[in-house]
Amino acid sequence: MTATILGAEFLGPALQALKNGDVVGLPTETVYGLAGDAHNPDAVMRIFATKDRPQFDPLIVHVRTAWNTLSLLAEHGVIDHSRMTPLMQATAKNLMDAFWPGPLTLLLPKHSTVPDLVTSGLPTVGVRMPSHQVAQKVLALTGLALAAPSANRFGRISPTTVGAVFSELGERISWIIDGGDCSVGVESTVVLILDSEVQVLRPGQVSKDMLERVLQPLCVRVGMAPSRLDRLGENAAKAAPGMLASHYAPRKPLYLVTGDGSESLRVIAARFPQEHFGVLCLSEGSQCRITDSLKAHRLKLASILCLSPQEDAMTAARRLFASMRSLDDSSADVLLAEYPSSTEGLWHAIADRLSRAARPLS
Ligand code: TXA
Ligand code: MG
Repeated sequence: MTATILGAEFLGPALQALKNGDVVGLPTETVYGLAGDAHNPDAVMRIFATKDRPQFDPLIVHVRTAWNTLSLLAEHGVIDHSRMTPLMQATAKNLMDAFWPGPLTLLLPKHSTVPDLVTSGLPTVGVRMPSHQVAQKVLALTGLALAAPSANRFGRISPTTVGAVFSELGERISWIIDGGDCSVGVESTVVLILDSEVQVLRPGQVSKDMLERVLQPLCVRVGMAPSRLDRLGENAAKAAPGMLASHYAPRKPLYLVTGDGSESLRVIAARFPQEHFGVLCLSEGSQCRITDSLKAHRLKLASILCLSPQEDAMTAARRLFASMRSLDDSSADVLLAEYPSSTEGLWHAIADRLSRAARPLS
């Protein structure tokens, strides 16, 4: 099988495939997804099999803009809001009004008609309303809720271009819809709504500050509460699988360059005297600095990429995965990535993805 890439103006075969329980590569504003009918267990099974994804890692269900209230999501068999307290419902409504359509996934009690496989047996389902025009067109024309994990093989870098979807899954699926390059570039923020607080289980473009502004005085916590982590013990990774330590990884070893880079490069020079390096820098300024340090350590440079000329987080996020992919495909033996000095706003998501892609240096 080799995938056919469809333009957004000719969606017919992809719509039919989705209605038949098949899977399709679908553009969203964050990353490309591998979409299938969320209420069809065969389609959901096919998503897991196509990605080699372990069944403990739950899927996000994508919904159309018309389903913009908790009652409508319940009516269409996505959530069961009768299991939410009035406070949780008010919190969800605030978040939906502020950030949907867009890169925010809400974990809400799942409807009984959503197959357990979608949520890996968890009582909540991740729900997201993508803002990408083509994703919305597909959702409206099929009338389906679409389960869609990122369209990469499990553990690999999420695809942000149609070419990246083709190289990950082109041999395994029939249809990929071309919606251009993704504008956000990192996966959606995933939040769990509780009565007492909101927990950010995966950072994304919708940052802690943005959530706090909308939810004040409710507390927004990054990660799970320590008491819940203790209770879950070894099952913690299963309750929030995006928190798996290693994820989004290139095939080549990647190491982080932290601080001013001198200590990291000293260790790297001692360990890899002969290798050629592929380097990801955050700005043009740091690109010059790191190039000089590499020379000073007599390290061999195969390729160096800059994520954003002025160290702007939006640009850096948009280019992050495609740049990592291109270094992975370059002649470099070992990859280095500059780690951001700030973890405010969208830098938090960039830092999170870089640290999950990296191997420990010591
Ligand atoms: O931006 C995105 O969210 C993209 C696009 C395609 O929409 N999708 C995406 O899906 O990143 P995926 O499968 O790569 O990541 C889904 C992650 C899971 O690994 C898990 O961390 C979290 O979302 N998740 C989903 N359902 C969950 C649940 N019920 N409880 C806890 N975490 C959940
Ligand atoms: Mg993924």
